[in-house]
Amino acid sequence: MRTVWTFHSASQIVFGQNAVGHIGEIATRLKAKKALIVTDTILEKAGLLERVRQPLVAAGLNVAAFTGGEPEPSMKAGIACYEMAKTFQPDVLVGLGGGSNMDLAKLAAVLLKHGGTPRDYVGDDKIPGPIFPLISIPTTAGTGSEVSAATVVTDTENHIKVGILSNYLRSAAAVVDPLMTLSCPPKVTADSGIDALTHAIEAYTAVDNADFPLPEGERTVYQGKHPMGDMCAEKAITLVGKYLRRAVKDGKDIEAREGMALAAILAGLAFSNVGVALVHAMEYPVGGAVHCSHGAGNGLLLPYVMRFNVSAKVKAFADIATLLGENVAGLSERAAADRAIAAVERLRNDIGVPQRLRDIGVRPEQLRALAEKAVGIKRILRVNPRSVSVDEVEAIFKDAY
Ligand SMILES: NC(=O)c1ccc[n+]([C@@H]2O[C@H](COP(=O)([O-])OP(=O)(O)OC[C@H]3O[C@@H](n4cnc5c(N)ncnc54)[C@H](O)[C@@H]3O)[C@@H](O)[C@H]2O)c1
Ligand SMILES: [Zn+2]
Repeated sequence: MRTVWTFHSASQIVFGQNAVGHIGEIATRLKAKKALIVTDTILEKAGLLERVRQPLVAAGLNVAAFTGGEPEPSMKAGIACYEMAKTFQPDVLVGLGGGSNMDLAKLAAVLLKHGGTPRDYVGDDKIPGPIFPLISIPTTAGTGSEVSAATVVTDTENHIKVGILSNYLRSAAAVVDPLMTLSCPPKVTADSGIDALTHAIEAYTAVDNADFPLPEGERTVYQGKHPMGDMCAEKAITLVGKYLRRAVKDGKDIEAREGMALAAILAGLAFSNVGVALVHAMEYPVGGAVHCSHGAGNGLLLPYVMRFNVSAKVKAFADIATLLGENVAGLSERAAADRAIAAVERLRNDIGVPQRLRDIGVRPEQLRALAEKAVGIKRILRVNPRSVSVDEVEAIFKDAY
């Protein structure tokens, strides 16, 4: 039985409109003189790279940019970034972008400090010590990578996304400026936003910390449901319920963008201490097979998995209905829990996230193999409130087909 829990975050969170204007001071406090910004050409064209470069240069730093970031990045992109960093020899890395670029910077920060190849660190707690100094600046509101202990890359050889999990992967500073998300297109806003909701719901309905089934001798950053995680998840769910539709509908709605930026951090703090569960385990092979965005895959699967899990955590699911603004007065706890599933389905459909696996290019004959891969991701599945067999996961995939 685990009776002790811990809570980890980025060392510093700097939040608010124009927060990127402070990046020079933040880098200077880290004693940095040379910064490598890790980003992509879309964000360069959108002018976001310049918004970060300028205050760094003004603070006297020598700045270069790696613009080879890509959505759902491959290990190869991580190695390319590492190679550039070895040549430029920065003393801080700045991950600028959605989860994809922030994760790429994290991977390069691991390789710069510890050498080896990305595969050496895949799994739980394989990083031997602190990584290269890292500042993360999100331009989407969703993944929470700016505060999380994870980096996710695509193993293109094995057609699956793989996670590296370690508390050493937390950023030295997360600079969260909602203005950086104003140019985020509606589809990316919707997909990343529902990813944040998935993080919060999976953490809030996780197996309890006291019952967390960690095998003898294994270490993990995930700990099961605990009070700090609950506080973060509750607020994140409320904020997503209030602001995600608005942010998708009108990208310039600053109040909604700010609410979603906070939701993403809180959901990131919740899942990266408590854990993510079956939705993520099922999305990793789906994303690896059809290259949908992580958020679209999660959002699609979320209500189907909630339906499977609801009996194991009826009270938590009923709470989620209330947090999402549903009126559950007079309903039984189970009926209220079912309202949470309906509310998530409505939200998913309203923001245009796909509803069926067939709509994202999955073929029926793939479902068994996808289920087998999902069931293999043990570090995630032990967080799920119900244990699952391959047959059960295949049945959920069929339901979602
Ligand atoms: N490390 C973690 O803790 C964690 C958690 C969840 C997901 N992830 C990973 O994060 C990735 C998904 O990240 P994401 O959902 O943030 O999307 P993303 O980083 O893949 O970005 C999607 C696209 O949107 C563009 N974009 C991003 N912000 C923009 C802006 N402000 N203006 C214009 N264009 C913009 C990007 O250039 C990119 O082409 C996946 O690989 C996923 O597995 C990581
Ligand atoms: Zn996720």
